[in-house]
Amino acid sequence: MSRLGVAILGATGMVGQIYVRMLSAHPWFEIKAVTGNSTVGKTLREAYRGKGHVPEKYADLEVLPSDPSKIDADLIFSCLPTKSSREVEPKFAAAGFPVVSDSSAHRYWPDVPLIIPEVNPEHLDLIDVQRKRRGWDGYIVTTPNCTTVGFALPLKPLVDDFGLKYVNIVTMQAISGAGYNGVPSMAILGNIIPYIDGEEPKVAEEPRKILGTLTNGEVKPLDVEIDATCMRVPTVVGHLEAVHVELGRDASVEEVMDSMAGFTGLPQKLELPTAPRRPIQVFVDDERPQPRIDAEAGDVPGMVVYTGRVRKGRRPGTVMFVTLSHNLIRGAAGSAILTAELLYALRRLR
Ligand SMILES: NC(=O)c1ccc[n+]([C@@H]2O[C@H](COP(=O)([O-])OP(=O)(O)OC[C@H]3O[C@@H](n4cnc5c(N)ncnc54)[C@H](OP(=O)(O)O)[C@@H]3O)[C@@H](O)[C@H]2O)c1
Repeated sequence: MSRLGVAILGATGMVGQIYVRMLSAHPWFEIKAVTGNSTVGKTLREAYRGKGHVPEKYADLEVLPSDPSKIDADLIFSCLPTKSSREVEPKFAAAGFPVVSDSSAHRYWPDVPLIIPEVNPEHLDLIDVQRKRRGWDGYIVTTPNCTTVGFALPLKPLVDDFGLKYVNIVTMQAISGAGYNGVPSMAILGNIIPYIDGEEPKVAEEPRKILGTLTNGEVKPLDVEIDATCMRVPTVVGHLEAVHVELGRDASVEEVMDSMAGFTGLPQKLELPTAPRRPIQVFVDDERPQPRIDAEAGDVPGMVVYTGRVRKGRRPGTVMFVTLSHNLIRGAAGSAILTAELLYALRRLR
């Protein structure tokens, strides 16, 4: 199998560094180019100084501007800030590149797939609609918000097995979720901030698209209401979320746990390199999952979503649980790499 050359737009940021690490030993993808903003012209080694380790094989790559004419690659991973993604990603798609993006800029476009590979791989058919409508040789595929993945993935088996009427979620989100320069240390150390600008509408809307049905080139969102309260807490990685759901029918705790723990999707069937054997693991120990212990655990570190504390609510048909996901891996770079592996396996990469 010949390896595909990839470029990472925004390679020097929190998410970009995870891409570089995860792709340093990838069986199908090889990094050919990296881009940035303030670090353009530096090597990755210089750009990373004080921020993290750069794998030796990529340390001397020069940071380029995010300009399609300067990039030679078969596939683009974009983890640019929203504003630059809005401008840059369509230029790459128009220039013929497949773009897999972690940014929110194009997630809500009706012809852009918003993908959790285990949940809605069939939505990748929107690529054909997008290319036709926009006249692009390339395309844009997006991954969800880092908070969305952690609960939309465990909701999938619940939707399939019991139906879903309502979701209330309260999040405890790590500081790395805000990027390298995101939250001032004086604001977050020893503190909790009960608001994250722009987060709650994303968390309330994205699962409806992801869990929706694709018919005649359009996604019909899942008919479920979601209320969200998003908070920033002083953990470094791993978003912990307390979820309260009203199911379509009453279900026992055991049924709910079995439904989540037994769930697998197309990436597992295809044995994609970044697919964990079981995407959702369920703790019975009441003190788990915990960000420090569990966020980066699992057979593919950071790709497993851990749930726990599954219990019945007081009203019939209601269930509560806690879920944890690694915001930079399952919530960003890992999700995008798994999506790209799926595109490759489905022969949607040149
Ligand atoms: N952090 C998370 O948990 C997470 C999870 C899911 C999705 N995301 C999304 O992923 C994206 C990146 O997040 P992050 O946390 O990695 O942010 P970050 O740490 O602030 O990194 C931003 C990166 O983008 C580059 N950049 C900034 N402005 C640019 C511009 N005008 N043109 C080109 N490149 C530019 C920076 O380059 P220089 O270093 O050279 O300035 C850096 O490489 C955002 O859209 C974010 O919403 C983040």
